[in-house]
Amino acid sequence: MSQVHHHDVLIVGSGAAGLALALSLPETISVAVISKGDLTQGSTYYAQGGMAAVLDENDTIESHVADTLAAGAGLCREEAVRYTVENSRGAVDWLIAQGVKFDLRDKVGSDEFHLTMEGGHSHRRVIHSADATGRAISDVLVENTLAAKNVTIYPHRVAVDLIVDADGCQGAYVLDRRNDTVDAFQSRFVALATGGASKAYLYTSNPDGASGDGIAMAWRAGCRVANLEFNQFHPTCLYHPQAKSFLISEAVRGEGGRLLLPDGTRFMPAFDSRAELAPRDVVARAIDHEMKRTGSDCVYLDISHQPAEFIQSHFPTISSRCLEFGIDICKQPIPVVPAAHYTCGGVVVDTCGRSDVSGLYCIGETSFTGLHGANRMASNSLLECLVYARSAATDICQRMTNKPQQLAVPAWDESQVTDSDEDVVISHNWDELRRFMWDYVGIVRTDKRLQRALHRAQLLQEEIKEYYSNYKVSNDLLELRNLAMVAELMIRCAISRKESRGLHFTLDYPNTQAVAKETVLKPDNWYNAEW
Ligand code: FAD
Ligand code: SIN
Repeated sequence: MSQVHHHDVLIVGSGAAGLALALSLPETISVAVISKGDLTQGSTYYAQGGMAAVLDENDTIESHVADTLAAGAGLCREEAVRYTVENSRGAVDWLIAQGVKFDLRDKVGSDEFHLTMEGGHSHRRVIHSADATGRAISDVLVENTLAAKNVTIYPHRVAVDLIVDADGCQGAYVLDRRNDTVDAFQSRFVALATGGASKAYLYTSNPDGASGDGIAMAWRAGCRVANLEFNQFHPTCLYHPQAKSFLISEAVRGEGGRLLLPDGTRFMPAFDSRAELAPRDVVARAIDHEMKRTGSDCVYLDISHQPAEFIQSHFPTISSRCLEFGIDICKQPIPVVPAAHYTCGGVVVDTCGRSDVSGLYCIGETSFTGLHGANRMASNSLLECLVYARSAATDICQRMTNKPQQLAVPAWDESQVTDSDEDVVISHNWDELRRFMWDYVGIVRTDKRLQRALHRAQLLQEEIKEYYSNYKVSNDLLELRNLAMVAELMIRCAISRKESRGLHFTLDYPNTQAVAKETVLKPDNWYNAEW
């Protein structure tokens, strides 16, 4: 039996962005947090390297801003970069006050944080908890959220669509996976914190569930999306037949790891003077180039020249996971390949996380704030989650008294649908989508490949639409529906960019245009505002 839940704020997603927002709202505000699975299912839990922030006395805000702008290849919004970096210390202090433990320099007896190095950064500025920073943050935020009196947690719930009327966003329809019913959540404000869409690709570092749900829901509700052609491929994911989605942190390169061809030759210095610590787009493209040139299935990342004690204390998670596959990283190089990792574009928001629809906020990887431009710099993502969650909380508090509570929302209508009798359609389409995205919308693109991908994405969407109209919803169907929609948005953004810039590299337009322009899509007429 369907239910209606009433809260002041509905937060969709329990990663760093969603939980930081929940914990930043005062106890007088009633908050619902819904999550597709367990609270730790999103990317946050798996984050390794850490969170970038200006913490060292020799580092400066100007330097962090300049590095982010350079990695973003001319396409960052400088005001968003500055806003984020200026609030980086506050975000770290907030996490520490919540109880997150970061590594200290020299471990024993020091009260200074150990800051690691990653690609694109000109200073050591990545604060971390060994190589499992996401787990350290997530565990603390989950524990505190569970203890918060004003927050009700709804795990195993999948938001289907937003409820929007002439006054703006009024809540969402939510599938309860435990009994397959769709409930209505009515709220004054909704925040989408659903993470990215890297599951659009066959090979990804992301956990299941990164299917772009928030981007698709916001688009269907009337929001603009931007820069979705910039899909970041992390250069180094473990290459092993049994290893699903396991990342080898960029911090391994930050602490001296070198990329090698199968014959042991180091190749990055020939591509960029920053060698292994060039921004991710440069390193991923170089690996892709070398794998294609040499016909090899992977390249190797070697940190074995560092003392074993150093490796084990900095990278305990990576060394033990690799050992499970028979790879002793203290003695031998790690086989690695690039894989889809991060969605740089997303739903267009301002510095408070406000989207185009009144009452609807988007935060974290779902959003497009302008911070990342054409290529996100390593460890700027957790930072963005924290900074924008906190600014959204402030904004929601200020607007709360002026937003009346609407009590009646239309019930979910299931009168026209039946139980599905052919779920194979969903799994087949899911596989097809992720394969053509990998083959045609990957690290190196062409007009022809993108057109092929667009054609397939449209066919899939027609099939999914028919299926969606006739059968009851399930998590797999909802994810496929969203992923196919976001894939089409990614392809359309990619087609409209007639240049190569940052993560978008096309053989048909290998040069970068003099003027950098964002790709902005509007739902009403697919109008591309900039091109
Ligand atoms: P997520 O943490 O992905 O959480 C999304 C939440 O939304 C989940 O709770 C999910 O269940 C929920 N959800 C999704 N759709 C729905 C729906 N329809 N209904 C209900 N709930 C839904 N960044 C860094 O800055 N530093 C790092 O070291 C780092 N390392 C990384 C390592 C890995 C392996 C990966 C995958 C990413 C890494 N990143 C890193 C990127 C960073 O972790 C993510 O960008 C960030 O954690 C995203 O946080 P989020 O809160 O936006 O979303
Ligand atoms: C990593 O540890 O390499 C991931 C860092 C990031 O994605 O920001």
